[in-house]
Amino acid sequence: MKKVLVVYGTTEGHTRKVATFVAEHLRAQGAVVDLVDSATPAAAAVQPTYGAAVIAGSLHEHLHQRTLVHFVKENIAWLNALPTAVVSVGLSAAMPDAESQAQARNNLEYFLNETGLKPTLAKSVGGALLYTKYDWFKRTMMRMIARQMGKDVDDTRDHEYTDWDELRRFVDDFVRQARLSDGQQ
Ligand SMILES: Cc1cc2nc3c(=O)[nH]c(=O)nc-3n(C[C@H](O)[C@H](O)[C@H](O)COP(=O)(O)O)c2cc1C
Repeated sequence: MKKVLVVYGTTEGHTRKVATFVAEHLRAQGAVVDLVDSATPAAAAVQPTYGAAVIAGSLHEHLHQRTLVHFVKENIAWLNALPTAVVSVGLSAAMPDAESQAQARNNLEYFLNETGLKPTLAKSVGGALLYTKYDWFKRTMMRMIARQMGKDVDDTRDHEYTDWDELRRFVDDFVRQARLSDGQQ
């Protein structure tokens, strides 16, 4: 099994949970996985010693975390020489209508154009409303947005819209397409 880098950007913490899920699912299949937060010094210390990489970030006002964009740009040459998968986390991906789905796709496309990354696979996945982690302003704003989107407005607790089974299948597809179980590195 190849050694896999899972690097993520998060603002409120949900994408850490998504990236940890991906890392654990890869480990369960025998991969050696390094899980790195793009906002920590560990990101600057990453060396190109991997056989594959998963890059996960979340959307805030249509953009992914600057630290993740920076990481991908800094490491683009070796990342593009590997099988890579991108996971873009957001609320629009959790909406069934065509407009929201197109929005999620466009935001992901923007990240790929901005960084120059050419992934083997890419997917938009539903995020979470983490009301208990927001300050008053963000909580009020997100409740209004949630009401418009028909999502949960009970701000006494958090709400998750990630389809974990779908994410597991996406990781399985990546394992197959990237031939992760072939070879050593
Ligand atoms: C201030 C704010 C802005 C957001 N903007 C978007 C957006 O433009 N598109 C989208 O799909 N989701 C948007 N979301 C939803 C987040 O992507 C979602 O909550 C995600 O789970 C956050 O992941 P994180 O906890 O890893 O930061 C926004 C959330 C917040 C709090």
